[in-house]
Amino acid sequence: MGPDLRETFLTHLRTSVQEGTFVKLTLGKPRGTEADLQNLYLRPVTLRGTPHLSFVWRHTTKDITKNFPPAEALAQLDALVGTSFHSAHLFTTTRSAQLEYNKKGEPRYSFGPPATGEAQPREHDRVKSRLLPSSSQIWLEALDITNSAGVVRPGMADKHRQIHKYVEILSHLAVDAALPTNRPVEIADMGCGKGYLTFATHDYFNIVANRATNVVGIETRPGLVEKCQALARRAGCARLSFQAGTIQSAQFTTLDVLIALHACDTATDDAILQGVRAGAALIVVSPCCQKELRSQLQPAAVLAPALQHGIFQERHAEFATDALRALLLEWAGYDTKVFEFISTEHTAKNLMITATKRAGPIHTDEAAAKVRELAAFYGIKTQALARHFDFLFSQ
Ligand SMILES: C[S@@+](CC[C@H](N)C(=O)[O-])C[C@H]1O[C@@H](n2cnc3c(N)ncnc32)[C@H](O)[C@@H]1O
Repeated sequence: MGPDLRETFLTHLRTSVQEGTFVKLTLGKPRGTEADLQNLYLRPVTLRGTPHLSFVWRHTTKDITKNFPPAEALAQLDALVGTSFHSAHLFTTTRSAQLEYNKKGEPRYSFGPPATGEAQPREHDRVKSRLLPSSSQIWLEALDITNSAGVVRPGMADKHRQIHKYVEILSHLAVDAALPTNRPVEIADMGCGKGYLTFATHDYFNIVANRATNVVGIETRPGLVEKCQALARRAGCARLSFQAGTIQSAQFTTLDVLIALHACDTATDDAILQGVRAGAALIVVSPCCQKELRSQLQPAAVLAPALQHGIFQERHAEFATDALRALLLEWAGYDTKVFEFISTEHTAKNLMITATKRAGPIHTDEAAAKVRELAAFYGIKTQALARHFDFLFSQ
């Protein structure tokens, strides 16, 4: 029976680690050679976006900590439980389980209800959780970012990081922009896709910042809109709605913040136009697939050999397009910032342009000259945002 009970315990341990319900494990009654070793404590941690188990060997006067990926951690535990430690107490979100050996070395196994209802937050996640309320767990789980214990699913660490980085940026931008204080803030997320960032926007403003804010996600795919709408109701996101439609045809009576993240090619320009036309105080775009200018660019002859390479042509077009957009937004009366949204290590679609409406003069000759000089340098004759603004590159 002995080995079976040990195996039963280890099976629960493995399953909890694999399913993300693992909370902690305490090993006691050490039987090894280290006289001052008291316990070994384990808990889940996230390191560089990937799950690990942290081992703390507690000695009389010191702790030794080491972190291991789950498979390696489980292999070590296989060798330790019942041999080097004669007591093991497992806590998961669904049960607690205990394996104890008596003086004769005979095992006893018992289990009970969970000692705690949820997985202990990891250190990294504890910081992040300040930017999203615990209620966000409903949609994070429904959108497959986390499991039911709030642990990030394998392969979703980048998306999870992106959501939190985005909310962090939004929290700073909301301070700089002149958002209304006498009525709810109105936000549109254009081309919202599965709604990850739309849900995050809603929860950040309404719950974390405690600012009444209506958020609408606009998306061409009706299936996604239906799903997001149902999830918004289920998650209790009272001021969040989703509409099937295009960026180009959306209509607003009031719009304070325009968001368009990863809207392909000139869809970003269409979204910017909507924001500027509505007089939005804040515009946040993260462009992608900047194709429109590729065939037009006539860079300096010295660059021709470098631009034989497709990747340089692509980056060149991205730079020219987004630099032009930022200058056109300056001309249209916005202060712009361009920066890396999250490190390229995590995604290639990482550039963000933010534009905050300023009180000063708009359409100045000086701002127009900057746009024209850049367009002339690259031989750009036409570009979507310039067309939207009726901006002529040559006069
Ligand atoms: C790359 S996804 C980005 C989704 C989301 N904004 C994000 O960053 O996670 C782009 C989404 O925009 C939608 N889309 C593309 N063109 C659109 C348009 N003209 N109007 C509305 N939605 C559009 C697509 O269906 C797709 O779901």
